[in-house]
Amino acid sequence: MYVKLCNFGKYTNGKSEPKQLKPDSDPSLDIHRKIRVYRIVSLVLFVICVLLLIVVLLLFMKLTGTQPCQRVEEIERSPPEQECSLKKCHEVYQLPREFVNNRERLCSDCGKGWLRFENTCYFLSQNRFTWQQSRKECQRMGGDLAVITNERVQMYLSRKGSLHYWIGLNHLGTNEWTWINNTALTVRYWGDQSFPGECGILAGNEPPERSWRPSSCSLYLQYICQKM
Ligand SMILES: *[C@@H]1O[C@H](CO)[C@@H](O)[C@H](O)[C@H]1NC(C)=O
Repeated sequence: MYVKLCNFGKYTNGKSEPKQLKPDSDPSLDIHRKIRVYRIVSLVLFVICVLLLIVVLLLFMKLTGTQPCQRVEEIERSPPEQECSLKKCHEVYQLPREFVNNRERLCSDCGKGWLRFENTCYFLSQNRFTWQQSRKECQRMGGDLAVITNERVQMYLSRKGSLHYWIGLNHLGTNEWTWINNTALTVRYWGDQSFPGECGILAGNEPPERSWRPSSCSLYLQYICQKM
């Protein structure tokens, strides 16, 4: 690298090879010395340049890199989700005084492994349980099985999961399908309803507009929890 760097201009002749420098009274000795000094100076300057470049790159990466408190995965399209500071969050949710506690909750983190979508936290499990066990798992984590009451949530969850998940839908003991929090079904995304079973799944591999299916509650499947 040393030689290559300095191979420029009028100094590119063979005489400038260090081996050929002899300590004699040659009048060109002076110029050879100068060449050596210049080479060393340019090498030092080059090294400084490289170091500065590295520093600039490191600073650039540090300043533009993703914020540590929110993974890219969790950043959704709506504006509040692109901010990760609690202060910014409070500014976004300018709620009346009586909702201050609510606001605290809106601005808090969902927790590890949870996804945030429109002020609700969702958890798509890796492990599999029966419908009842899944529900207990969700409750143990401070939530319950997911209740889907609009198209945005349906689309979001379908996009996030590609497996079969228990959701909070069942007709245990009744003929009507109901949500676990006793809300009536406002939207329906049933697909093939010919399967037997009293518990509902969201089949992430089906088109989102018809991905719900009945399933036998004792099957071991993944599940989706939600908490506010
Ligand atoms: C049931 O859950 C959905 C979704 O979280 C919510 O919109 C609805 O208000 C809840 N209903 C009741 C009665 O709690």
